Amino acid sequence: MSTTNIAIDGPAGAGKSTMAKIIADKLGYIYIDTGAMYRAVALYAIQRNIDTNDVEKIRSILDHIDIDIKYDEDGQVILLNGQDVTKEIRTPEVSVGASNVAAIPEVRLKLVELQRKLATENNVIMDGRDIGTYVLPNANIKIFLTASVEERARRRYEEMIAKQYSCNYEDIKKEIEYRDRNDSSRAFAPLTIADDAVVIDTSNNKLEQSVEMILQVIKERLS
Ligand code: CDP
Repeated sequence: MSTTNIAIDGPAGAGKSTMAKIIADKLGYIYIDTGAMYRAVALYAIQRNIDTNDVEKIRSILDHIDIDIKYDEDGQVILLNGQDVTKEIRTPEVSVGASNVAAIPEVRLKLVELQRKLATENNVIMDGRDIGTYVLPNANIKIFLTASVEERARRRYEEMIAKQYSCNYEDIKKEIEYRDRNDSSRAFAPLTIADDAVVIDTSNNKLEQSVEMILQVIKERLS
């Protein structure tokens, strides 16, 4: 029996993970946050004082890194060599590191293998940058979520403050702009809109409105 796969791509702070989680719950699908996998690779390097832009070094540590995911009552748990690093991967330093290691093809190939396996075995809603274009080109539904950089930085700032990380808006905006540039300009599987994706700009939407729009697209495409 084949599985149903929903791809949600877009830049940082567009609301992908929040909406994907809600929709996965509604549909009874598994939510897969692929960004967490790139973050875990970056965390491994940062913990060992390895520059996340040092391509040779990052390549050389890949065989020592085992990434896996599991689920508990709070959702996806990311395991780095068997250790739960779900919280540690959310810092701004890891965000930038993730974007750096994500430009290295060998890193992507390793993680994409796990992502494709999960999508073959389960009905999934998977979010990332290249899900509709590269990881799951045959996904049943592809959504590209976007919003202005100011709005995305504001949302991320509020999310971080709510989780009691200390941060300021301007730094977050700079970090997001850096990742937008880096993620869109890399040679291998960059952040781009798939030809068959439905683009939703969430800048002026309340969360429920965007969720409703996505559910509508899913309903139309799956009927
Ligand atoms: O949650 P947020 O949108 O801030 O980022 P994320 O989804 O956790 O992704 C962190 C970084 O991983 C991104 O800036 C990308 O560089 C990279 N990434 C990627 O290249 N491809 C994916 N499918 C997912 C994330």
